[in-house]
Amino acid sequence: MIHAFDVALFLHLLGVVVWVGGMVFAHFCLRPAAQELTPQSRLPLMESALGTFFGWVSVSIVVILLTGGFMLSKVGDMRAPWPVLAMAGTGVLMMLLFGHLRFAMYPRVQRAVQAQRWPDGAAAIGSIRRIVVVNLVLGVVTIAFGVLGRV
Ligand code: HEM
Repeated sequence: MIHAFDVALFLHLLGVVVWVGGMVFAHFCLRPAAQELTPQSRLPLMESALGTFFGWVSVSIVVILLTGGFMLSKVGDMRAPWPVLAMAGTGVLMMLLFGHLRFAMYPRVQRAVQAQRWPDGAAAIGSIRRIVVVNLVLGVVTIAFGVLGRV
């Protein structure tokens, strides 16, 4: 029999796959390929690709939070095993970093591309890349906490 917990875990993991897998693709595949292009081609491409990806991440975050909150309520809330609480902690940190990236840094890329200020755009993309690397490492650590916390 399929329980609500199983459905929540399935959706939770789908959200994680989209978010963490998307960061792997952006960092290890899209970015090196885009480096070959001129700034005039590269920055509009990155602006468009990141804008679409950030939409998917936003949906994933809503799903991860709703399903994570539901499952947490079933495994004891604040009395859950410590790795589950650690997962929630690093997960929320990842979400805050994403919020900074989406609402403070990405608009700088958009403004630079619109005004064709390529050096500014490249600097803003560089800042986004550093945060994505941090979030990627946190994502892997968070998955490890999730696996450790199985009850
Ligand atoms: C931010 C709030 C989050 C909360 C409240 C939360 C909560 C939970 C809970 C309660 C479970 C079920 C644990 C169990 O089976 O006993 C779970 C599973 C899991 N979570 Fe999260 N989570 C959050 C974010 C994340 C994030 C951001 C990631 C990864 C980047 C993640 C990765 C996982 C994984 C891989 C599992 C499956 C563990 C397994 O069954 O092996 N979680 N989560």
